[in-house]
Amino acid sequence: MCGIVGYIGQLDAKEILLKGLEKLEYRGYDSAGIAVANEDGVHVFKEKGRIADLRAAVDQTVMSQAGIGHTRWATHGEPSRLNAHPHQSASGRFTLVHNGVIENYVQLTREYLQDVELKSDTDTEVVVQLIEQFVKGGLDTEEAFRQTLMLLKGSYAIALFDLENKGTIYVAKNKSPLLVGLGDTFNVVASDAMAMLQVTNEYVELMDKEMVIVTDKKVVIKNLDGELMSRASYIAELDASDIEKGTYPHYMLKEIDEQPLVMRKIIQTYQDENGKLSIPGDVAEAVAEADRVYIIACGTSYHAGLVGKQFIESWAKVPAEVHVASEFSYNMPLLSEKPLFIFISQSGETADSRAVLVQVKKLGHKALTITNVPGSTLSREADYTLLLNAGPEIAVASTKAYTAQIAVLAILAAVTAESRGKALGFDLVKELGIIGNAMEALCDQKDEMEMIAREYLTVTRNAFFIGRGLDYFVCLEGALKLKEISYIQAEGFAGGELKHGTIALIEDGTPVIALATQEHVNLSIRGNVKEVTARGANACVISLKGLEEADDRFVLPEVQPELAPLVSVIPLQLIAYYAALHRGCDVDKPRNLAKSVTVE
Ligand code: G6P
Repeated sequence: MCGIVGYIGQLDAKEILLKGLEKLEYRGYDSAGIAVANEDGVHVFKEKGRIADLRAAVDQTVMSQAGIGHTRWATHGEPSRLNAHPHQSASGRFTLVHNGVIENYVQLTREYLQDVELKSDTDTEVVVQLIEQFVKGGLDTEEAFRQTLMLLKGSYAIALFDLENKGTIYVAKNKSPLLVGLGDTFNVVASDAMAMLQVTNEYVELMDKEMVIVTDKKVVIKNLDGELMSRASYIAELDASDIEKGTYPHYMLKEIDEQPLVMRKIIQTYQDENGKLSIPGDVAEAVAEADRVYIIACGTSYHAGLVGKQFIESWAKVPAEVHVASEFSYNMPLLSEKPLFIFISQSGETADSRAVLVQVKKLGHKALTITNVPGSTLSREADYTLLLNAGPEIAVASTKAYTAQIAVLAILAAVTAESRGKALGFDLVKELGIIGNAMEALCDQKDEMEMIAREYLTVTRNAFFIGRGLDYFVCLEGALKLKEISYIQAEGFAGGELKHGTIALIEDGTPVIALATQEHVNLSIRGNVKEVTARGANACVISLKGLEEADDRFVLPEVQPELAPLVSVIPLQLIAYYAALHRGCDVDKPRNLAKSVTVE
């Protein structure tokens, strides 16, 4: 979702900004723009569509040492050149980019901007016009910025440029992510470190309701009362090559292929010197002491949570519930006496999850975040963090983060089980090693997956995924993958629920992908497959070795059945990938979606 970059220094700003925006493309956007300043004034370039379109529109002869840039994911106002950021004040003196949602923009317009003609349909423009109104009223830019920020309700990350003070970028943040990057002769601003890794790996985190005055030599952080804040910088442990596609045609394919490696990395990370699984003592204690675990997440992370709940309950014997973050805020269940909240989030920035975290912290409850991004908001604000160590995930459709989340949840559950004196019945380290090998074998069978996608999904408007028990949860994820990137209407169902409605949708040729990896429900899911084939469905059964039957379309390597979601999801990821490819879709950047959803 929206991304911000800013640069102030000695080099040509426009190229740095454009490269930065390219690195933020993965977050999802529908228009983009930059503003650069030089002795002739501020030059704004905006385009609907891709950064490549913006790049083509930028006048390459304009040289500048300062500027701000933005990728926009439309919330208020359609995706268009007019609504793209940067936005400018009426006089053109102030130029601003913004992520987030200003909830009270209508009221602010009514109260302060009666005489100003707004040019766009965005909530953002109100901010830049307000700043100009305050300056007209006699305030200097910093004070006008501060006064404006005090009036804003909602979420924002903002970078502001003042034509009459070209050596400064004014920055502020509340609930939306924003970092300041440090250099010797320059400083930068970015929604995430990846965007500016091209020039620096040293960053300063900003807290909510802080504003920052950035020049090429100095970074001054203040709170909204104007008090100076001091903050140590940190080095972003990111390798620039981690965020390159290399020889892969798409990030998604690269990230699917990285899963065996991620499994091995996770096993290593969470092992002590004796080879025993281990997590930091305070985390293990927090889970073991909880009388109930509440897992909160969105999208793919929610699906990983459903699998994780099974581990926590069946191995550690701690009751667990899984909730979609956006619903939990209004529909909070009656909480137990000693709850532990587990937030699962690849990005660590998802606004819906963060809203729940803020809520439960206010109630005084403990929270653990499982995330791929160290230092992310959800990690900083929770009591404990467990990292996924999956490496940057760039494709919007999450793949390696999902399996990493399940593996870390398995380890968490196993360590808790041990501390509570409950036996697992198998050696998780060994089994996760087997999973890594099985994943590798599956990633080597791409031709087969491409064929399945061609056979079942090339000409269809819908597809169903059915499974029971753990397989049902993987079906939800398989369907999400397919709909996200191929735009085929896909749904995951519990096999037993089919006959209570969904079966009405089955007609001649409807693709039904069935998972059969769980012995105790194998006969039942086979029955469901028969029910749909009897009604014309084109069924594709993917089974676990040992449970296979003659007509199964694909057989997964043998793994510990409770860990089967880690392998059964891989064909589903690959089938979705090839289905999207065959249909000519933009696999890494599906329409309307954002990788990091920073608005509620
Ligand atoms: C977006 C992404 C999904 C992701 C979800 C939750 O919708 O497109 O891939 O699963 O957000 O994101 P999180 O970073 O919290 O896991």
